[in-house]
Amino acid sequence: MSKIVEVKLIKLKVFGDARGSLVSLEQYKNIPFSIKRVYYIFDTKKDVARGFHAHKNLEQVLICVNGSCKIKVDDGKNVDIFDLLSPNAGLYIGTMVWREMFDFSQGCVLLVLASQYYDPKEYIKDYDRFKVVTSNEK
Ligand code: TYD
Repeated sequence: MSKIVEVKLIKLKVFGDARGSLVSLEQYKNIPFSIKRVYYIFDTKKDVARGFHAHKNLEQVLICVNGSCKIKVDDGKNVDIFDLLSPNAGLYIGTMVWREMFDFSQGCVLLVLASQYYDPKEYIKDYDRFKVVTSNEK
């Protein structure tokens, strides 16, 4: 459980048998929005962090499909850090949540499902501005 209302850990069902394992992702079923875009981050470098932004309207689910990484989330009031250690863990991040991804393991592949097409205008990349906007919302 996160103190941040707009962040939730989703436990994904794993279909496993003697052949191996499979996870299925379906919009409005285990993914709580319509999936418009999928991207993945890989070949990450040691001790390099990414993210450092919030989205005004975008919802995402992040899944470490290989390896592990940590995600720091911040709604301007509370901060949480999630350890994504398994392909059966999806981290839902709603709107207006600052995120930083770090501690990528070797070979980490971070899959991201997004509710909107890519739109650079939709980002807030300045933390001070993010703090001002979120403090005005509350
Ligand atoms: P960037 O936002 O810096 O990644 P992160 O969220 O990990 O900090 O994105 C890296 C580059 O990829 C940048 O040039 C924008 C581009 N990009 C797209 O073209 N489409 C996308 O869906 C995303 C997420 C990024």
